[in-house]
Amino acid sequence: MEPVIVFKNVTKNYGAVTAVSDFSLAVERGEFFGLLGPNGAGKTTLLRMATTITSPSSGFISIDGINVDRNLTGAKRRLGVVPQYSNLEGELTAAQNLEYHGRLYGLSPRQIKRRSGELLEFAALTERKNDKAKYFSGGMQRKLMIVKALMHEPEILLLDETTAGLDAAWRRRIWDFLRELRKQGLTILLTTHYLEEAETLCSRLGMIEHGVLKRTGTPSEIISAAGNFVLEYFKDGKTAQYFFENQAEAFAEAARLTILDGEFKVREVNLEDAFIQLTKKRPVD
Ligand SMILES: Nc1ncnc2c1ncn2[C@@H]1O[C@H](COP(=O)(O)OP(=O)(O)OP(=O)(O)O)[C@@H](O)[C@H]1O
Ligand SMILES: [Mg+2]
Repeated sequence: MEPVIVFKNVTKNYGAVTAVSDFSLAVERGEFFGLLGPNGAGKTTLLRMATTITSPSSGFISIDGINVDRNLTGAKRRLGVVPQYSNLEGELTAAQNLEYHGRLYGLSPRQIKRRSGELLEFAALTERKNDKAKYFSGGMQRKLMIVKALMHEPEILLLDETTAGLDAAWRRRIWDFLRELRKQGLTILLTTHYLEEAETLCSRLGMIEHGVLKRTGTPSEIISAAGNFVLEYFKDGKTAQYFFENQAEAFAEAARLTILDGEFKVREVNLEDAFIQLTKKRPVD
């Protein structure tokens, strides 16, 4: 295994706020890694450090073996970055947005033409290539942001909340698009709030809260770390959750709590439960 994105004991302070705290992670080549965490957890800060927009207060980051601090340009060339908020030029057309990016990365006019043609086709945006980006729907804009990030043929793609605010159909279109890119050999690191997205898309996940990496593993490892079955019931105006190894234990506990005639539910644990258990946004025992 060959780690291509490495965070080593990375801490980032903004004045009194510690956005990221002693964060270490190695993403292997070809992995589809999902960074999951609530608002303000430090996800964007991590990506911004990896993409050299801001530097760590301590610790270091390497991209494909290159220390980001020492060789900014080398690291940048290997990265495609899709930020949380739009980086498109609204007044430029789709094709011009790609051209602009290509020029920034020193591609020749011929390379730009070939690459943008391929990418617009791949994104099914060829027909709209001469339309201004500002007239694109949210989903089309995200797609354009992704192909823009791919113009200089990076090996690693970093995406920050790429499907946030998109409807279910568009979210799935973006998922298929990302799956296809992974098949082509890209290493992908994305951040998301959507647990379904993390569960279906990512080969490995990291859960982060208050800048601290709390847990890493495959989606099923993270789920089973929480337990296999969950007993949920309504208590004192809140939903209480208890986790168990097996279904029988969950029902036994329901009986012990004499809630069998009340409103309760025993079901398999999902990623959302694991996430809630970890972030303790709801009362969990
Ligand atoms: N430039 C900055 N100056 C001061 N504080 C900052 C700055 N950038 C981020 N922070 C703080 O760092 C913490 C982490 O923010 P970050 O944007 O990385 O979280 P996030 O996980 O991306 O959140 P979201 O899911 O809402 O996008 C927050 O407390 C935020 O207020
Ligand atoms: Mg963010």
